[in-house]
Amino acid sequence: MITNIHVNKPEPMVSGKQLELFNSTSDIRSTIKALVAGKPVLITAFYSNGLLLLKELQMYLKNKLPNKTFQEQRVFRAEYHKLSNLVLIEIAAHKLTVKKSPSIGWLEKLYPETSDFLLTFPQVQGLNSAWQWYQNGISIPVLRNKLHPYYGTYFPTRFDHLILFDNWLKRYEGPKKSAIDVGIGSGVLSFQMIKSGFQKVFGTDVNPNAIVGLTEFMGDTKLSRKIELDFGHLFGKFEKQTELIVFNPPWLPESKDIDNLDGAIYYNQNLFPDFFEAAKKRLLPEGKLVIVFSNLAQITNVTNRHPIEKELAKGGRFQLEACLKRTVKKASEKTKRDQNWRASEEVELWVLINK
Ligand SMILES: C[S@@+](CC[C@H](N)C(=O)[O-])C[C@H]1O[C@@H](n2cnc3c(N)ncnc32)[C@H](O)[C@@H]1O
Repeated sequence: MITNIHVNKPEPMVSGKQLELFNSTSDIRSTIKALVAGKPVLITAFYSNGLLLLKELQMYLKNKLPNKTFQEQRVFRAEYHKLSNLVLIEIAAHKLTVKKSPSIGWLEKLYPETSDFLLTFPQVQGLNSAWQWYQNGISIPVLRNKLHPYYGTYFPTRFDHLILFDNWLKRYEGPKKSAIDVGIGSGVLSFQMIKSGFQKVFGTDVNPNAIVGLTEFMGDTKLSRKIELDFGHLFGKFEKQTELIVFNPPWLPESKDIDNLDGAIYYNQNLFPDFFEAAKKRLLPEGKLVIVFSNLAQITNVTNRHPIEKELAKGGRFQLEACLKRTVKKASEKTKRDQNWRASEEVELWVLINK
């Protein structure tokens, strides 16, 4: 079943035409001129030449474009995105051909049928950092084992909400036969539930990479018999009622001002109403509906509407049992300057029950 899901990955290119070449002896100005004229440039000799050209491109655009107001910054980023993605790098036999390149296992895993192709340099940088996360794994304070996030899958980088959920699970005294994890991502909430004694968890995601990644990660271990997956919207194919439903949804409303809509971070206006309607059908009479959220949208003034409060205010389906909050640890001194608002950021664990 899983084999016919297509994962998201950078589109491989084959070079048809003659490409401009770049190495450390090339004339930077004429290379940048070529990029501005829309001509692709191939990095040769060393991987570091790609880093060098991108750095020069940044400097060129900084001198050329104003970069102060929000609108100016958007234009700047769009231009950098456009030009940097004309910088190409070659892959042969699933490896970067230039010297002193990082070795990136995704080139083999994600492209089993294509061994020789081109990608853009920024795409390769993304694959490279994703490979580091995947290989080295991420230690999570509430789990014994590390998480190994698959390429293109959301994973937690801060853990306050996981600690809140862990504390709640420790005090939970209801039955632990089954639970549903909507938007399972790299699986962290499901792993927490299994650790706390849940016998079966049903997990869904609209991101194919999350489903393929977890399927691979679990293999045919004991875990794979405890966590059943479905690639689908909200509850996917799972119709059965359970005693616990958890959802760590995107925390920000989507907006016209955002260029790259990431479905792990931005929600559309139907997501929450649809979720509550579907959850009502799948929650056992005595069950608990747990939603992880944050005041991020409010403190960054993106919106003052809170989708969970809205549902509760409407009445009808659910009532509040508890709302646990935890202040997010302040950003480090180094980054604090740009992130003053983080000082008041709180994560929220909403526990709703049937009305
Ligand atoms: C903030 S991430 C949380 C992931 C994981 N549960 C965790 O706590 O780390 C939200 C996840 O929900 C998924 N998602 C977004 N909209 C969805 C939908 N309509 N149905 C199912 N999953 C969805 C995203 O792809 C993403 O993996």
